[in-house]
Amino acid sequence: MSDVVVRTVGLARRYKMGDTSVDALQGVDLEIGRGEFVALVGPSGSGKSTVLNLVGGLDRPTAGEIWIDGKELSASDEKALTRHRRQHVGFVFQSFNLLPRLTAEENVALPLMFGGVPEKERRARARELLERVGLAERLTHRPTQLSGGEQQRVAIARALVGHPALLLADEPTGNLDTTTGVEIMRLLKELNQEHGLTLLVVTHDPEVAAFADRVVRLRDGQVNGLNG
Ligand SMILES: Nc1ncnc2c1ncn2[C@@H]1O[C@H](COP(=O)(O)OP(=O)(O)O)[C@@H](O)[C@H]1O
Ligand SMILES: [Mg+2]
Repeated sequence: MSDVVVRTVGLARRYKMGDTSVDALQGVDLEIGRGEFVALVGPSGSGKSTVLNLVGGLDRPTAGEIWIDGKELSASDEKALTRHRRQHVGFVFQSFNLLPRLTAEENVALPLMFGGVPEKERRARARELLERVGLAERLTHRPTQLSGGEQQRVAIARALVGHPALLLADEPTGNLDTTTGVEIMRLLKELNQEHGLTLLVVTHDPEVAAFADRVVRLRDGQVNGLNG
């Protein structure tokens, strides 16, 4: 296994809308080492979510290369992209994106259905992850019966249940109050330090970015400064 989990070379993404187009990314070079915790910061509209979606295989670049774990994603077909998403990447979103009719345990176990994991093992793994994020007492709660912070913990457990090499989080504290947001960032930091999870977290909040090993700044679709 390579020490580099994510590498993008000259990454570009142009969104076309009728006669006009938006150059959301204009040649982004990014490298993330195994076990590294990187914050991607920048003003609204600077291209942060676009980078995350491309790295996660939810979207395709207009130009440039994306390498994940030594494999070129930008050259993959749809089937390979889907496999990449399921096997190598976990996603956490600002809005949690839990299924309202399912319990916490069922939400976390859901991604394993696609992998053909037997039900008993799915439940056991879901419980293990929910315990890890501090929700052992909330297995049968539904999303509406959980606080925002608890819902985000469920979402993190779900993102990790398939043992991804990389966790991508887009404004994970954006819908949480400051105290709860800090708790979520502490949890992500623990997962990074104790389990070597590689993390790419998008935020516009400097307090959130302060948890990362390294900060990458985006402006108008370009990386314009490294620090940390
Ligand atoms: N699906 C889309 N269609 C057209 N334009 C888009 C689309 N998604 C994003 N954009 C534009 O691309 C730029 C970057 O967006 P985004 O990556 O969402 O920025 P950020 O996450 O930093 O706020 C913005 O100008 C935005 O309006
Ligand atoms: Mg965004």
